[in-house]
Amino acid sequence: MAEAQNKSVYIETFGCQMNKSDSEHMLGLLEEIGYRQAESIKSADLLILNTCAIRAGAEDKVYSYLGAWKKIKEQRPGSLIAVGGCVAQDAGQTLLKRSPGVDIVFGTHNLHRLPDLVLQAQSRGEPVVEIYPELPDDLPETPVVRLNSTSAWVSIIYGCDYNCTYCIVPYVRGREKSRHPDSIVAEVEELAAANYKEVTLLGQNVTAYGHDLNPAQHLGNLLERLGTVDGIKRVRFLTGHPRDLKPEIIDAVASVPNACEFFHLPIQAGDDRTLRRMARGYKVDFYRRLVDQIRKKIPEAAITTDLIVGFPGETEQEFLNTVSLVEEICFDACNTAAYSPRPHTPSAGWGEQVPEEMKYERLRFLNSVVADVSQRRNRRLIGGTVEVLVEGRSNRNAARLTGRTRTNKVVNFEGGDELVGQIVTVRVEAANAWALRGALA
Ligand code: SAH
Ligand code: SF4
Ligand code: F3S
Repeated sequence: MAEAQNKSVYIETFGCQMNKSDSEHMLGLLEEIGYRQAESIKSADLLILNTCAIRAGAEDKVYSYLGAWKKIKEQRPGSLIAVGGCVAQDAGQTLLKRSPGVDIVFGTHNLHRLPDLVLQAQSRGEPVVEIYPELPDDLPETPVVRLNSTSAWVSIIYGCDYNCTYCIVPYVRGREKSRHPDSIVAEVEELAAANYKEVTLLGQNVTAYGHDLNPAQHLGNLLERLGTVDGIKRVRFLTGHPRDLKPEIIDAVASVPNACEFFHLPIQAGDDRTLRRMARGYKVDFYRRLVDQIRKKIPEAAITTDLIVGFPGETEQEFLNTVSLVEEICFDACNTAAYSPRPHTPSAGWGEQVPEEMKYERLRFLNSVVADVSQRRNRRLIGGTVEVLVEGRSNRNAARLTGRTRTNKVVNFEGGDELVGQIVTVRVEAANAWALRGALA
């Protein structure tokens, strides 16, 4: 190993939980060559931007950040800027042209190479670009510095084998590759020993876990194994494709005590023609039946989703079908977005692009319905009690603690610092679309 240095790193993360988890692994890797977390961006020796390419807005943000960072770097001679994540994976060398001042470009398949790339950039004094076309087969386990002390992320499958016609993820994250269950269980056991009570299993398509292992297995098998880890009270998983949520996975959530009654199942649209053109591989009816199965087996389950509005060719009526579906399913929460044409995706080149203003008008309307439905759903909990894992003080009101239910709902209530990291029971007194408020029971 290289001689340890006494340097500091500042990291900014855009995008999904997978990226946030990757950032924690970057910090772990860099710690091994003597980089601790910087107190502020201005005092950092290394600035890392972990990027997201899902929509044009996320990508544009990368270049505007890098413009500002170049000025910060000029104030601190010798400091370095590294860019990783999905935009870097796609852009590679071209990122240097658009953002002079960048010293290191690395991708989504070679995080483990970061320490070496940093040392190279330090000694060479010229930019280093390294992008792998896919994950290596012998991917080493990487160290991690966790930024949250109550809840931990654990990646279980990388990549995505679907080819939804709007989505850049398969292009920047590669094909599905599951982690061996023994190493996942070992990581979760370590987390339990470090007093973590909650883990979230991550993947771009977590419900496909295990199909590529030998012997093949499924997410339900993994949930059963994790159900035996003492001290871990909650296990969740994100994000799954509805088509891969097999009955045996729902059964495992129903029967394993620490598996949480929470299903994030992106439907994307509530209209069959749109779903077909998105190449989602299911119809609205399939999704309805899936929700029925979940609610029959686990009545208290929360179901959340992702929705895209303004997909090319989406008519007013097709959009309204999505709106009605939100009302019909009564989702606990929905992530909504206006369609954004992405490079390497077929739908970006289609005619019939929906005009920008119309997309945003649809988005605003959908958001108002979503808020209404979520509020109704949350208000059903008023008067009852919920189990809350306390995460810390609320940002909005320092007298309050904040935490989440097993169903991933935010709960705010008054209490002392000694409760942070504990699981408590809260009586729900009020609810809006985004959070519950209550008092210790
Ligand atoms: N694997 C998950 C989704 C991962 S991407 C699944 O298929 O369910 C996260 C979300 O970003 C998607 O669910 C989708 O709603 C949104 N998204 C992806 N590509 C998009 C695009 N081109 N424009 C707008 N939203 C997009
Ligand atoms: Fe993208 Fe999800 Fe479709 Fe994969 S399944 S292509 S990640 S939207
Ligand atoms: Fe964004 Fe890459 Fe995640 S594109 S949503 S950071 S997989």
